[in-house]
Amino acid sequence: MIKEHRKLIGPFSQILTLANLPLHGTLADEAMTIIRNGGIAMENGIISAVDNYRTLAEKYPGHDYTREQVAGDIVLLPGLIDAHTHLCYAGSRANDFALRIAGISYLEIARQGGGIWQTVQSTREETSQNLEDLLIERVSRKLTRGVTTIEIKSGYGLNAEQEIRHLEIIKQVDRRHTADLVPTCLAAHLKPRDFPGNNSTYLEYLVNDLLPEIKRRNLASRIDIFVEASAFTMDEARTYLTEARRLGFDLVMHADQFTKAGSHLAAEMGILSADHLEVSGEPEIQALQRKGVICTALPGSSIGLGHTFAPARKILDANACLVIATDQNPGSAPQGDLLTQASILATFEKLSSAEVFAGITFRAAAALRLPDRGVIQEGKLADFVGFPTADYREILYQQGNMGPSMVWKNGERLL
Ligand code: NIG
Ligand code: FE
Repeated sequence: MIKEHRKLIGPFSQILTLANLPLHGTLADEAMTIIRNGGIAMENGIISAVDNYRTLAEKYPGHDYTREQVAGDIVLLPGLIDAHTHLCYAGSRANDFALRIAGISYLEIARQGGGIWQTVQSTREETSQNLEDLLIERVSRKLTRGVTTIEIKSGYGLNAEQEIRHLEIIKQVDRRHTADLVPTCLAAHLKPRDFPGNNSTYLEYLVNDLLPEIKRRNLASRIDIFVEASAFTMDEARTYLTEARRLGFDLVMHADQFTKAGSHLAAEMGILSADHLEVSGEPEIQALQRKGVICTALPGSSIGLGHTFAPARKILDANACLVIATDQNPGSAPQGDLLTQASILATFEKLSSAEVFAGITFRAAAALRLPDRGVIQEGKLADFVGFPTADYREILYQQGNMGPSMVWKNGERLL
């Protein structure tokens, strides 16, 4: 074993391990394990021990474990996970945004042929090289903001050829970039205006001509659908998701963004996660909780649209699993900063620091079925984000203003 591959990092003012916490329900800050003057020993990008720095320094001698000393106050968290984004696109929707803040609704803009369809057109026209460059730029920015794992949906291609092209680009960037990307196929975002048929025949076409090809090329293991009056109905989605499940995909959904609908189907089918939920009420939350469906709040979309927030407090009080993600996309959620948005959601919904951190680390890992990350614990990936403070409460208090000063991915320090 080469020496460089074993190292000891620290000391850190506080390590919030987020280990051994429940996947569901409320979390008090006192439940978090905080290691003061902590250190982490690692080997080949995997954590081998987390403890007091001096204890570790005695146990793992310098000739065996390279020292990576940390100066000044740093609070360390697991690398953040953004479990819902639409980062693969070209073109701006500043025109939409200007109309929206002048009072025209997102749905009205879509009816007039703007919205998602506008981005589909600009993304289809963009070269693969440019799309790849744009994606790399967005992923790199997230990484400098402490986000080491990012889910990315297709959904601006909306035909088999373009959806495959975009998923191939995501796969390519995942191979080349330090961040880990998790692709999801959202070809069922909207029936494209140039498809010669109705919603059902479009979804049938996806089942026959796209999903098997995604499997064959191993481009995604997750299928998403936008269930909404303006996109696909519950019945249409049920047929599509049943076929996708038969092919072996994990299922996720854009649910209850403007109308209460999707969540009941999400619960009926026991899918992995239901995302958005801005208009969900008690019955919807209860249904999702009973079936163990992960509830993903997307505050960036509420901020971008001037819409209510998902009922995050009620979701946790109902003992469901709350994940917080950015939904970063050119339309509803252009802002994109996970920490800023999670802090804002916390003030409106009254979430504890522990609940917020859980929603952007180990609970987000569960939404992506990635049991190897999201906590700082022996055997997990050495993905960390460090903030320049001695008190973890500063992180949310600063509402995104205090960015990370250190980021590690697979044990390599990037920032
Ligand atoms: O999650 N609601 C559907 N899809 C995206 C928005 C996509 C867009 O406006 O371009 C969302 O909000
Ligand atoms: Fe989305």
